[in-house]
Amino acid sequence: MSPSGSPLLVLGIEASCDETAAAVVRRHPDGRGEILSNVVRSQWEQHRPFGGVVPEIAARAHVECLDEIVADAMREAGATFADLSAVAATAGPGLAGGLIVGLVTGKTLALANDLPFVAVNHLEAHALTVGLTESVRPPYLLLLVSGGHSQILLVEDIGRYRRIGTTVDDALGEAFDKTAKLLGLPQPGGPAVERAALAGDATRFSLPRPMIGRDNANFSFAGLKTAVRHRAMTQVPLDARDVSDLCAAFQQAVTETVADRVRQGMSMVESDLARAAERILVVAGGVAANNAIRSMLDGLTAQAGWRLCLPPIRLCTDNAAMVAWAGAERFALGHTDPLDGPARPRWPLDSAAAPALGSGRLGAKA
Ligand code: KG4
Ligand code: ZN
Repeated sequence: MSPSGSPLLVLGIEASCDETAAAVVRRHPDGRGEILSNVVRSQWEQHRPFGGVVPEIAARAHVECLDEIVADAMREAGATFADLSAVAATAGPGLAGGLIVGLVTGKTLALANDLPFVAVNHLEAHALTVGLTESVRPPYLLLLVSGGHSQILLVEDIGRYRRIGTTVDDALGEAFDKTAKLLGLPQPGGPAVERAALAGDATRFSLPRPMIGRDNANFSFAGLKTAVRHRAMTQVPLDARDVSDLCAAFQQAVTETVADRVRQGMSMVESDLARAAERILVVAGGVAANNAIRSMLDGLTAQAGWRLCLPPIRLCTDNAAMVAWAGAERFALGHTDPLDGPARPRWPLDSAAAPALGSGRLGAKA
């Protein structure tokens, strides 16, 4: 029987990459959401010496702190396990070791407390966050841009997703991170490139705008990254001015590329959304924190007569409130998962979509 007639309290657990997180959310019977706690611990300091996420270090760091983080989330929410309606944990996509840590923890808590368990797709959690923060319901177009993915998806309904476009090589966040590394800036690279670009001249170096004008909504960032490397090599040794100008040129190139791809995606779903009360573009993933990209999307949607929905930045980046919420949405529809279900390092949201050539750094992480 669907439990949607009463408020639901769901504990969510996220350990699919380099953030260990737990959160408790309430889903009201009318579909409104409320965050009671949202605890996120980043592992960046542990990975920093290696210049990227090391899967073994990530898994071990999750094991070391997840119990404490779950306890913190429950305490902050003022909830006991007896108050919960269900436990949700990210089952994929992501790094296998971390997924297993999060899943085993979630399943154990569900079993020990006689609670239903929901296995959550991390991409679905990003996709549905806007329902928690702004009560926005499908259908809408989603731009998901993070360290592991760059996708445009049509969210037709909860559980029904159609991929409109994806990257054929690097993810957008990955391109920011690699550009930062190349220019000697710290990781994560996105914020560092954005900061350096503020003082830069975007016109000094000319860079390609990959995929612009193509009649699909796919992305490609590998060639742009190579072009940055070539421009940088002509200037060695780079001074601060060179770095700022390269960052500004890179950010301008990706912003124009994303604008073109999103415009293309919008036109591809025009007929799908024709009967919707309003046409909505939702943005999720860590790159949604980028101000140049945000203001471009603001202008683009205003001009096209679409509404732009950007969840708060702390909920665009990886967190467990989004996992608890996706679990609550699925549970409200009567959906639960068995305790012997697997971790799914690769788990596309649109299983009908043909695989693209390459799909971001981890091929799966978002
Ligand atoms: O969604 P997220 O927190 O984690 C996953 O990738 O799963 O996204 C992190 C990515 C990183 O690649 C980071 O460099 C990028 O988002 N990012 C940004 C900015 N803040 C974070 N990229 C561009 N501009 C930013 N301000
Ligand atoms: Zn993510």
